[in-house]
Amino acid sequence: MISLGIIGTNWITEQFVKATDETKSFSLTHVYSRTEAKAKSFIKDLDKKDITISTDLDEFLSMNFDTVYIASPNALHFSQAKKALENGKNVIVEKPSTSTIAEFTILEKLARENHVYLFEAARHIHEPIFKKIAEVVEKHRDELSGATFSYMKYSSRYDAYLAGKNPNIFTTKFSGGALYDLGVYTIYDAVVLFGQPKKVDYDAEFLASGVDGSGSLTLSYPKFDVNIIVGKTKNSYMSSEIYFGRDTLLLDNGGDIRHLDWADDNKNVTDIPTTKSENPMDSEAVEFARIMNENDTETYDKLLKYAQIVNRTLEQARISAGLVFEADKEK
Ligand SMILES: NC(=O)c1ccc[n+]([C@@H]2O[C@H](COP(=O)([O-])OP(=O)(O)OC[C@H]3O[C@@H](n4cnc5c(N)ncnc54)[C@H](OP(=O)(O)O)[C@@H]3O)[C@@H](O)[C@H]2O)c1
Repeated sequence: MISLGIIGTNWITEQFVKATDETKSFSLTHVYSRTEAKAKSFIKDLDKKDITISTDLDEFLSMNFDTVYIASPNALHFSQAKKALENGKNVIVEKPSTSTIAEFTILEKLARENHVYLFEAARHIHEPIFKKIAEVVEKHRDELSGATFSYMKYSSRYDAYLAGKNPNIFTTKFSGGALYDLGVYTIYDAVVLFGQPKKVDYDAEFLASGVDGSGSLTLSYPKFDVNIIVGKTKNSYMSSEIYFGRDTLLLDNGGDIRHLDWADDNKNVTDIPTTKSENPMDSEAVEFARIMNENDTETYDKLLKYAQIVNRTLEQARISAGLVFEADKEK
């Protein structure tokens, strides 16, 4: 099994390690945390033994393991992934992998030069339900006439923001906000299913901290538009839709997709059967390990291309809305 080190000890890392255990894809061997207490508590919660801990990032990345999973605040991904790639580690980095396309280009080049893998953890595109959507889109591609994706969830951290605390995800310092946190999933939907948009327009509702609390995004393609609604300050129960002229594919959600229906011109709605793992990170864990074990460069190149287009689209959206991150000043 591929040995795994982790950066970031929040619930998402626990979920990823559980996925690797369930699927026997990676084996946790090393943990980095800024504090020893957190690293120990993380290991204890997962009931792991014989794990090496480090609170020094340079020391951690010089240790003997194959792959690092990075789930720190967005703005830290770049410097941590860069260091990991320079140390010859394969990198699985949470979405979005970078704050700017310039950062992404540097990481991609480093991964190629050092003959290691770089994966952006866009979990949902690896799930069977997403593969089913891609299959339906492919079958009806000639009739494809647009889409609307919605992913809007009241953030568990928004109350803390309103109370005057400064949660990372609502700061420009850590490249937070609705577009980068949730919009990234819907941009993945569009890029994987329809390719690179020709034009990107984002209309953001700004919070006083400078990030976008919510917004609406239009991705223009030669023959149709994709409209996207994202938000972290309110809840939407709107379904997402992909249009094929008279017929419509209905997704219950644009980022955490659990159910699909097909609606025809006569308003007949038919359920499309699919499967969904309890742990939404199982599929990506299996796929990343398979690509590495089989050296499947074709799939790897395709994933990296998607990541590149998504990171470019995110930046274009930000520019169109006037959304500035601290990472922009470091260019
Ligand atoms: N794929 C998914 O479904 C999914 C779901 C949620 C989040 N995510 C992604 O996972 C990443 C982490 O999100 P999160 O909400 O867990 O972030 P977070 O709570 O702000 O931070 C995650 C971890 O990073 C470390 N950290 C926090 N603040 C830091 C700072 N100022 N300097 C250095 N390290 C710091 C902490 O680990 P230590 O204290 O141990 O150092 C913390 O546990 C994001 O990129 C997010 O987009 C993905």
